[in-house]
Amino acid sequence: MSTLDVEVSENGSVKNSDSIIDSHELDEYDFSRFVDRPRHLNLERQRSCDERSLNDLPVPFSPHQSSRADNFGRAFDNPDSVYSPVRKSGCNTPMSHFGNGMVASDPHPMIAEAWDDLRRALVFFRGQPVGTIAALDNSDEKLNYDQVFVRDFVPSALAFLMNGEPEVVKNFLLKTLRLQGWEKKIDRFQLGEGVMPASFKVLHDPIRNTETLMADFGESAIGRVAPVDSGFWWIILLRAYTKSTGDTSLADKPDCQNGIRLILSLCLSEGFDTFPTLLCADGCSMIDRRMGVYGYPIEIQALFFMALRCAMLLLKHDGQGKELIERIVKRLHALTYHMRNYFWLDLKQLNDIYRYKTEEYSHTAVNKFNVMPDSLPDWVMDFMPVHGGYFIGNIGPSHMDFRWFCLGNCIAILSSLATQEQSSAIMDLIESRWEELVGAMPLKVCYPAIENHEWRIVTGSDPKNTRWSYHNGGSWPVLLWLLTAACIKTGRPQIARRAIELAETRLSKDGWPEYYDGKLGRYIGKQARKHQTWSVAGYLVAKMMLEDPSHLGMIAIEEDKHLKPVLRRSSSWTA
Ligand code: GLC
Repeated sequence: MSTLDVEVSENGSVKNSDSIIDSHELDEYDFSRFVDRPRHLNLERQRSCDERSLNDLPVPFSPHQSSRADNFGRAFDNPDSVYSPVRKSGCNTPMSHFGNGMVASDPHPMIAEAWDDLRRALVFFRGQPVGTIAALDNSDEKLNYDQVFVRDFVPSALAFLMNGEPEVVKNFLLKTLRLQGWEKKIDRFQLGEGVMPASFKVLHDPIRNTETLMADFGESAIGRVAPVDSGFWWIILLRAYTKSTGDTSLADKPDCQNGIRLILSLCLSEGFDTFPTLLCADGCSMIDRRMGVYGYPIEIQALFFMALRCAMLLLKHDGQGKELIERIVKRLHALTYHMRNYFWLDLKQLNDIYRYKTEEYSHTAVNKFNVMPDSLPDWVMDFMPVHGGYFIGNIGPSHMDFRWFCLGNCIAILSSLATQEQSSAIMDLIESRWEELVGAMPLKVCYPAIENHEWRIVTGSDPKNTRWSYHNGGSWPVLLWLLTAACIKTGRPQIARRAIELAETRLSKDGWPEYYDGKLGRYIGKQARKHQTWSVAGYLVAKMMLEDPSHLGMIAIEEDKHLKPVLRRSSSWTA
């Protein structure tokens, strides 16, 4: 048996190879108890111990030091729990303090350069900053790199929030909300109302001296896929803005509440689904080309989970909000169970899959998805450390994608989709497989690359995604901020420090490329844009978070104590 196989025993406990979950306890994952929480949980001016532990945190940050009050309830409202919106770029000051009283040496010269690049990337609409351009590179064909991408703006937004400059984030959230309201059509087919754009651009009419916005919801994108991740990032960013500024008035606007409802109604509708995960097309997120990430890819599932949790914090408990919250609670309940059990892979699970029986019929089936042991790729056993594990790329009928995807695993840690044990197992894996996942430049978007016949079939012979290039095992500096956040949340900042030091050896010298190629990431990406804004912003966010770990609060959510599953550690965790 494995976490893929859940067996209900006579006494009502649900067992699998490395976990025993009491079904009664499962029912006690009572999300609903949080639903009716009053909106302002922490009205008292004095900071709670929990809040203090986040804000005054010494390095390293241990998640155990703080049990945040904001899980499954609207608690970002504590006026004293928020980051003070004073314009500051601590990283720019000559002597930076780590939260633990240690004094850092002079800030790295790359920091000032990165801030310059980030500010030059700002895009203005009618005099107001509304986002950052994807890349400031004029040497190559622009394609759509001259646009503001929703996903690319997230690290820029976090950098501005951490620096006490929330205006551009607010403008961005409001402008994209307006774009959501547009009628969206691809040929003659109309997209759902809640779809958020992949990107937008400001058009200047020099004759009439006017500015208008133009957005792409997938109708211009290569491959014509709508970005499923955009709406999730929008909700996550709205929560980061609210948490960081303490300004609840933005999220409380009827337009924003409606925007959240529209996004969620796209994913919470009932249909033919037999799983609580979200079914989607290839290329609908950061990996926006055909790469075999269709079905139930981890990136979308983790973002979906995080967006649901953020929405719980943002939605007003009025008539419409309350009803939606009840649906979210149910979905979170099922999604948590599904992901933690079926997507999780460690040495024990791998052994169980290897010995699977197939063609089992009925609800007693152990191998529920009828996965063929022969489909286990050779590399996966070599990759799996004794201590460690990760959420695999995808699960569907007779299909497990064993590839490691960085973004999905980091978001699983930040959102507490992963249990604490799973989170530290993921960090164990990153440490043990440092050469493979970090190599010369952080960080592999996925591992390993697909090649030869498999590459032809899976990518449709895509010349941009050849092995160890771009989305196919390329190394993306932007992922540094996600790794750093995950490291801080799991109390292992030294891992992030190592990765940042590596990035500092090359990033600036190489002109802040979009991605690197090669098994170790030693080539600058074949078609990588230079001065890619999210490479710049990702570095800044990583540096700022490491210097002041309290920033983590805007992008991480703690597991609620009441949600804690009774998952037993597998032997590989306890060994
Ligand atoms: C590429 C990336 C995508 C990113 C876009 C703009 O298409 O695959 O994730 O959003 O460039 O940088």
